[in-house]
Amino acid sequence: MEQLLFIDACVRGERSRTRKLAEHFLKTYQDKHPDTAVVRRDLCLQRLEPQYPEVLAQRDALWAAGRLDQPMFEPARQFAGADRIVIAAPFWDLSFPSILKIYLERISVTNITFGYDSTGAMKGLCRAKRMLLVTTRGGYYAGTPLEMGRRQLEALCVMYGIPELVCLDAEGLDDARNDAGALLAAAMERGAALAETF
Ligand SMILES: Cc1cc2nc3c(=O)[nH]c(=O)nc-3n(C[C@H](O)[C@H](O)[C@H](O)COP(=O)(O)O)c2cc1C
Repeated sequence: MEQLLFIDACVRGERSRTRKLAEHFLKTYQDKHPDTAVVRRDLCLQRLEPQYPEVLAQRDALWAAGRLDQPMFEPARQFAGADRIVIAAPFWDLSFPSILKIYLERISVTNITFGYDSTGAMKGLCRAKRMLLVTTRGGYYAGTPLEMGRRQLEALCVMYGIPELVCLDAEGLDDARNDAGALLAAAMERGAALAETF
């Protein structure tokens, strides 16, 4: 059975519009692909410690001992083995909440999610062929140099060997001149169409 890994970095939980958009995508995806199992990782519930000195020291020691089977590396193993990956994260301070950065640091493990070939070139080791970022933004940043969330994930996809990053977004939700509900509904429609092919 194929596995879709859903990484939820929606800090506002039930009130999060990003979460609502992602859940709508996932529901449609499940309807269209009943044979795919959705595995969830809520970064607010399953909290990872940042890589403080002692955490990094423990990680380095385990890695040097070849103990890649240890719980420390479980998020990386899960990420590397997923067939599809969906990340839901609101646009915060021009990128995404720090809980997602902590997660990304935790899964970026040599010989699990990426490695190096005999010439020393970086080589991605992840199974997924596509990753989806679901996000909502207060203002308008898509395609500008100030948007650094999607771009960071695009770069990491190169490192992980994931050929494509797709973004489902809704913008301008905090602009009082806009009908935020209508913008979100339009994004949900785009998401439902995307769920057919993703
Ligand atoms: C801590 C924080 C930082 C934010 N930073 C930005 C930002 O840099 N640019 C922007 O357009 N909106 C920013 N916003 C607004 C959010 O992107 C917007 O409200 C989004 O829809 C929130 O998603 P949510 O409903 O899933 O929490 C920020 C909101 C918060 C709470």
